[in-house]
Amino acid sequence: MGDPETSPSPSAGAFGNAPLEAVFLRAGADLDGFRAAARRLAGRNVPPERVLWSIGEAPGLFGAAVEVEATQSPLSLPRGVAEMVGSVVPHRDHERYALLYELIWRILHGERRLLEVSSDPLVHRLERMRKAIGRDLHKMHAFLRFRRVEGEDPERFVAWFEPDHHILAAAAPFFVGRFRGLEWTILTPEASVHWDRTTLTFGPPGRREDAPTHDGFEAGWRDYYESTFNPARTNLTAMRAEMPKKYWRNMPETAAIPGLVRQAAARTGAMIEREPQMPVKRNPARAVAAMADQGPDSLEALNAIIKRSEPLVPGATQAVLGEGPVGATIAFVGEQPGDQEDRQGRPFVGPAGQLLSRAMDEAGIARGEAYLTNAVKHFKFEERGKRRIHQKPTAGEVSHYRWWLERELDFVAPKLVVALGATAVLALTGKAIPITRARGPAAFEKPYSGFITVHPSYLLRLPDEAKAEAYAAFVADLRRVHELGRSLQG
Ligand code: URA
Repeated sequence: MGDPETSPSPSAGAFGNAPLEAVFLRAGADLDGFRAAARRLAGRNVPPERVLWSIGEAPGLFGAAVEVEATQSPLSLPRGVAEMVGSVVPHRDHERYALLYELIWRILHGERRLLEVSSDPLVHRLERMRKAIGRDLHKMHAFLRFRRVEGEDPERFVAWFEPDHHILAAAAPFFVGRFRGLEWTILTPEASVHWDRTTLTFGPPGRREDAPTHDGFEAGWRDYYESTFNPARTNLTAMRAEMPKKYWRNMPETAAIPGLVRQAAARTGAMIEREPQMPVKRNPARAVAAMADQGPDSLEALNAIIKRSEPLVPGATQAVLGEGPVGATIAFVGEQPGDQEDRQGRPFVGPAGQLLSRAMDEAGIARGEAYLTNAVKHFKFEERGKRRIHQKPTAGEVSHYRWWLERELDFVAPKLVVALGATAVLALTGKAIPITRARGPAAFEKPYSGFITVHPSYLLRLPDEAKAEAYAAFVADLRRVHELGRSLQG
């Protein structure tokens, strides 16, 4: 099917005598309009070749878009189709609606498992479009920079961004999650969106010159980028592909890139010498939050933000939140949810979690009275056949979740926090410290006492002959934790 906006209208004769159906959809990503139209067309058995899709050119006063009868029942489609539709509708390709309707038509007419046939040219093309949207969203989330509007009280932040596709509506909830307590506007060449701390409102296109070009926080962003820049990974080609230059001019920290690249070799050497440290104090989310005295005001509000956040890898089922009573004396921090936790949405329910429960029980710690959480809230894995193999989170990923963990522990306010394994130690201290060196009571420079021990999955990986002794040492650690907890309870 040709471009409905530009191709000449084919005569009815070219398609036999049945009339052509014209569908008018809003410019941009008109998901509701498409869904309604697809339901109506499929309900009336209109084949794809009889539909003319027009985007952004409704006749008259926007009046003649396809009408949907209120009683129209939803189409019965296999799982995955709705998600494919939602992911592809924001693509800028004018043929997107025609392609999606063709997919739906074929599925409803005998090819029920069509989406699984990745070699089918239609499915292949839609998959590529879906991936392009994923990349565009990722870029917008990573490279958009808000700047404060000078002289306004209360503070207001504005960002200019040029996405490749119509993704503004899909991208906005991420920024609500990140900057819920701030008032901000995102301007793009095709639309804008404003968040007033309670409601998102979409508006007309913006202009680059309507966004401030710098603000007092410029140096903060630059510092943050310098401190997270990993010279050992300097690969200019990859950097350019990941962060095309069109985004650079919106991002204050990119001013630091040429110098950083020049110094990369020297910094790599220095980095190898040094004990790894994370950029603790410069997290921009925290800095912006502090600047505006904002942020979630309860554990529920924080959890709602975490729940809406993007997973580390596509395919993860959900964010796994901490579990246990607020005010628990002891909190345990693990690494990240595993396969079972990801499926069930609860921490420490898989094999490592069961071992931890058993050891806690033996040490006299009631699991229901403790608070259990993870440094990283999403399961990171690699697919091998049908199996999902755990992947260790990188220091950058741990740092990404760190602000959330700190806020979570602020709300739970335990007296003692137990780091289970090296990732938890990194998240709680910002330092990569070998467990063998630090095992036992620890000062985390926090309002709570600390204790470091091994992760239960380490015990599961040991050879059989070493397991009993290591397990006994783990239980002995937890007994000390129990005693410490009791002494801190006062
Ligand atoms: N390992 C963890 O660190 N956390 C879990 O929740 C499960 C396994």
